[in-house]
Amino acid sequence: MTPLYEGKAKRLWATEDPFTLRMEFKNDATAFNGEKKASFENKGRLNNAISNLIYGMLEKEGVPTHFVRQIDDTNVEVRKVTILMVEVIVRNIAAGSFCKRTGMAEGHEFSQPIIEFSYKSDELGDPLINDDYIREMKLATPEEMAHLRSAALKVNELLSAFFAKCGLRLVDFKLEFGRLLSDPSVIVLADEISPDGCRLWDLKTGERMDKDRFRRDLGNLMEAYEEVLGRVKQNLA
Ligand code: TMP
Repeated sequence: MTPLYEGKAKRLWATEDPFTLRMEFKNDATAFNGEKKASFENKGRLNNAISNLIYGMLEKEGVPTHFVRQIDDTNVEVRKVTILMVEVIVRNIAAGSFCKRTGMAEGHEFSQPIIEFSYKSDELGDPLINDDYIREMKLATPEEMAHLRSAALKVNELLSAFFAKCGLRLVDFKLEFGRLLSDPSVIVLADEISPDGCRLWDLKTGERMDKDRFRRDLGNLMEAYEEVLGRVKQNLA
């Protein structure tokens, strides 16, 4: 069997149902557009568990996602979508490429969340784009863009409040959306929400609890993800 698609951290497999897929979380980690690579035992299991719990919470709060059900430790059944080639990044606190681009110090709290878009292209290194690029590249319609913005802000409010309960600051995160194969007029949240695609800082100590531990060689990556999973479970109960 060959997967329908293999990305840096996940594989997508066909199922008997044409409208659903099996998404498999791998143990691989990459950073800097795949330049830095490693594999971590349990990473797939931890991200699958964290992402599914978060998607369950978001669904309950009225945010449609691709999530159907967890199959096993590293596999989840998801609704089949056509992924929009636009990555939506929401920032609450200055970090990462925002600081690089602007020279602003890490840790500055924004007065309002910043939303930015990048073109989902490994070849080009996910470059920053804006609404005008997106319109001319026909990546999404203006109506879809309005929806992405409002959905991203809603997800930010829900996730920021939830992670705060977990003793974590949601610094920034990346979302991906897709059009349902069964009804392309419906856009749902897709991909994953895990410490791979979020920056999470411990509220008390400021400790990095996300993939920056790998990007910056801080060590104990899986210990941090395990801690995030524990807190997520505790605060959903
Ligand atoms: P950045 O500061 O490097 O632009 O990252 C912003 C957020 O987006 C951060 O939480 C990590 C996440 N992210 C991804 O999920 N995938 C990516 O390819 C990149 C560059 C960032």
